[in-house]
Amino acid sequence: MFSSTAVPIHGNYHGYYAKRPSVNDPRLELLPPSTFAGKRVLDVGCNEGWVSCEIAQSHGAVKVVGVDIDDALVRAAWRRRRTVWSAQGPPEDETEIVGSSRKRKRVEPVGEPDYFPASCAHSHGPLPIPPSSPELFPHNVSFRTADWVNDTIPEDEGGYDVVLAFSITKWIHLNGGDAGLKSFFARVAAVLPPGGQFVVEPQAWDTYRKAKRMDKRLRDTAQGLVLRPDDFPRLLSEVGFGEPVRLGSVGEGGFHRPVDLYNKI
Ligand SMILES: C[S@@+](CC[C@H](N)C(=O)[O-])C[C@H]1O[C@@H](n2cnc3c(N)ncnc32)[C@H](O)[C@@H]1O
Repeated sequence: MFSSTAVPIHGNYHGYYAKRPSVNDPRLELLPPSTFAGKRVLDVGCNEGWVSCEIAQSHGAVKVVGVDIDDALVRAAWRRRRTVWSAQGPPEDETEIVGSSRKRKRVEPVGEPDYFPASCAHSHGPLPIPPSSPELFPHNVSFRTADWVNDTIPEDEGGYDVVLAFSITKWIHLNGGDAGLKSFFARVAAVLPPGGQFVVEPQAWDTYRKAKRMDKRLRDTAQGLVLRPDDFPRLLSEVGFGEPVRLGSVGEGGFHRPVDLYNKI
């Protein structure tokens, strides 16, 4: 099993979200609002789990699985889940009148995010997580350590409705070569039903140069690369996706990247 190294050759950056602020992640805001509602989501390369937690808490997903190759990041993702839970406010008193009895019933017990300041959890420890519906935050989000290009995880068996690949294609490409990238796309196609959606934030080819400098093995692999990010639509059509919709480009400085949405046919 892979464990954290000093050189983040998989893009396994620690403290990533200190450099790339991701509360109300602008990439998620590009997506149609219904993208995650009632859906099962796989977040490949979830890093410290910020995006997975946001989708699980605020975008109505019934199940979010974050997977990352770096076990230390996955442990941080579980901690992030607890931190986000501890900042969430009490359930809003959303009620409806049931029948003629005028009995009141809570319909959606979801609290406001960022209701409690982070200092509360720092001073008093994180809040306990009471039992609740598996489809409600935080029970609807979990994390796994795996190299998802080469290994399966138990959740894959049931499939997903949406797969996210934010800022990971370069790392898969540089570590696994053209063959690794193709098998990644084939695996995404295999876990999505017709109508399923693949959301990709590809890194541009010119950013590969800096990554290659990290490690000799990446440099060697890069020399044999024939495919380029511009080939992704063709590669994805070969495994069953329609033409992508470019939703826009967001992010500051070097993080300014496009987000593309593919529908499985
Ligand atoms: C640059 S970070 C992007 C994090 C996150 N997706 C985002 O955009 O906010 C890339 C992440 O992908 C993970 N990763 C790279 N290759 C992977 C693989 N084969 N399987 C699972 N995770 C992988 C890295 O460990 C790292 O956390």
